[in-house]
Amino acid sequence: MSQKRVAILISGGGSNMLSLVDSMSGDHPARPCLVLSNDPQAGGLKKAAERGIPTAAVDHRSFGGDRAAFEAELLEPLQAAQPDIICLAGFMRVLTGDFVSRFQGRMLNIHPSLLPKYKGLNTHARAIAAGDSEHGCSVHEVTAALDDGPVLGQARVEIRAGDTPEELAARVLTWEHKLYPAVLRRYCMGNKDPVLLP
Ligand code: GAR
Repeated sequence: MSQKRVAILISGGGSNMLSLVDSMSGDHPARPCLVLSNDPQAGGLKKAAERGIPTAAVDHRSFGGDRAAFEAELLEPLQAAQPDIICLAGFMRVLTGDFVSRFQGRMLNIHPSLLPKYKGLNTHARAIAAGDSEHGCSVHEVTAALDDGPVLGQARVEIRAGDTPEELAARVLTWEHKLYPAVLRRYCMGNKDPVLLP
């Protein structure tokens, strides 16, 4: 079976992108074909380029809130890269249903909460404020609804007394780096059974 091509969309430092990229070697059934960002300054672009991965950026700020026009530009490098699978990895723009439907069933996202809890932003602070004893991260298939879609894996993280959102986020992130590669590897082989960590 030929290797799958994986495009990764980022907005920032790209630590999840790097964990995915670094996992795709040896007998892995996929290879990265593109790292794409909505921010030309995203730190992850340079890190990807240093690893020899093609990169592209489409600055969403140039489109003045016209999401359809932004997405039309985003599609150009994405389609040119001919990805089989798209991984959103810290990509902080909400995509329209139109865009998502083009890639339905082959687009994944990582979200820093135990979905369906805490969709959207500030998940760590919200989990602490709610008095939860555990938090974590989820990888799910992307559908038109925000942070929805079938969950493909979760990692659970204890919330400790006195945790700040930043401390909790850092602990969750270390699990994101384990969870996303584990899910992607199985997903590439057609296995959608949830990965549960630790
Ligand atoms: C990660 O914690 C990811 O789960 C989160 O942004 C961070 C990106 O870090 N994503 C979202 O909140 C998506 N709604 P990274 O750039 O180092 O991978």
